[in-house]
Amino acid sequence: MARFTIITFGCQMNSHDSERIGEVLRGAGHAEAAGLDDADLVLLNTCSIREKAEQKLRSEVGRIALLKQQRPGLTIAVAGCVAQQEGAGLLRRMPDIDLLIGPDNISELPRLLEQADGSAAPLVRTEFDLAAPHFLAAAAEPGRTPVSAFVTIMKGCNERCTYCIVPHTRGPERYRPSREIIDEVRRLVAAGAREITLLGQTVNSYRDPLSELEPAPGAGEAPWLHTRGLRAREDESEFAALIRAIAAQVPELLRLRYTSPHPRHLTVSLIRAHQDLPVLARHVHLPVQSGSDRVLRRMLRRYSAAEYRERVAALRQAVPGLTLATDMIVGFPGETREDFAETLALVRHEGFSLIYGFKYSERPYTAAVNLGDDISEAEKIARLAELIALGDGMRTQLLREQVGTKQSVLFEGRGKTGALRGRTERSEIVHVAGPDALIGQLKEVIVTGSYKNSLLGEVPGMAPQGPAPRQPLPRAPGVPRALPVVP
Ligand code: SAH
Ligand code: SF4
Ligand code: F3S
Repeated sequence: MARFTIITFGCQMNSHDSERIGEVLRGAGHAEAAGLDDADLVLLNTCSIREKAEQKLRSEVGRIALLKQQRPGLTIAVAGCVAQQEGAGLLRRMPDIDLLIGPDNISELPRLLEQADGSAAPLVRTEFDLAAPHFLAAAAEPGRTPVSAFVTIMKGCNERCTYCIVPHTRGPERYRPSREIIDEVRRLVAAGAREITLLGQTVNSYRDPLSELEPAPGAGEAPWLHTRGLRAREDESEFAALIRAIAAQVPELLRLRYTSPHPRHLTVSLIRAHQDLPVLARHVHLPVQSGSDRVLRRMLRRYSAAEYRERVAALRQAVPGLTLATDMIVGFPGETREDFAETLALVRHEGFSLIYGFKYSERPYTAAVNLGDDISEAEKIARLAELIALGDGMRTQLLREQVGTKQSVLFEGRGKTGALRGRTERSEIVHVAGPDALIGQLKEVIVTGSYKNSLLGEVPGMAPQGPAPRQPLPRAPGVPRALPVVP
């Protein structure tokens, strides 16, 4: 039996994989260590989406290799996207690694550890499970299951965004049977989860490999504009059908979210599902990357800024009060000041509730390598700062506008101050002074104040109790909440 510790870098898929790694190891009789100091196995779950992924890994491995000098039995395992990307080559550059394992090989970990034990040669296992895709189900243990849990519905990516390494590190798209997904949602809800986030790299391209879903209303309708003026081709995604099946078969589920959808699969059927199903949160994270058509084309995003806006407008019309978050890349090869101005214009137009902004980072094995990385670091930093400042200002204003409204909040736990922490349907974080009994419950909350990134609230009829949240931001001086009506 080994005591293990897992260090996770990267996206929600990686965090989710780390949970499964923990379950697989516990299932094989290993136990969690308190930390690095008492671990026999350190597993680094790596990400390679942006710059210096390998350098970061090198410094982590170096730090742990020092411990290995005192504890020769210590095993260093590397999982995740850097392991998958570099394979055996990584072992030549970092000989302290004992085991390399790809995202599709997690279930083989106990067997590999037995082999790695005491063997001189490091082991590598980075095979995609293309012939028989396998999805590790969450253990759904009561007491360990969070209020808000994640369920993987697909893996890999068939897009070829020219900047992105994910198709290389996660392989082609493979979908999980809907019956397995629904079963996992049901088990998680029985174990205490109240909110589920469906996970996938292009989560809304989902199709059921066993064809067991009823077609969703609106399926196949494609009224959208498409690049070069053509109408969009019929979309074969069954994502809306999956959502409807989950809502119908697990009625105890209080809230359903998904991440990350690709804008070109934001279908009529998905918008209808948002309109019809109260369980779907009024929030979507819809990465746009740029507001310039020229850049979007060079990124191979397969939509124009106008198409993005058109689909979002339809979604907003169907779901009043919806908030939209996004990802943006600044300094993509050839991005001019004018292109960047179009990105800022899109931000002003859409009023995103949250922007994840990134400086373009050239990645190996991607097509954009051929475009050169021609925007200076200083210019990337300046553009990112401008984007973030605009986004932050709009976000704080959006939050301020919620003061005085009533929101339905799902309480997830306690925040840093000890106050209850929950989220509105719109994905705004709300702090409330309240009892533990509210955790896992959906409650109407009056928003009484706002912070830069979150809200303060009270449950009507319930006296504040327990640790109090921080003081909210004062109202902007001299700005009345509603403009006086001039006759
Ligand atoms: N599958 C998701 C994105 C996963 S990567 C989607 O398509 O929505 C998360 C984000 O990282 C991307 O949306 C993009 O904004 C950013 N990103 C990806 N590759 C990048 C690169 N080479 N440089 C900078 N940012 C990048
Ligand atoms: Fe990367 Fe594009 Fe696939 Fe997202 S859709 S994972 S950005 S290739
Ligand atoms: Fe995720 Fe990073 Fe891999 S974002 S898919 S862990 S490259």
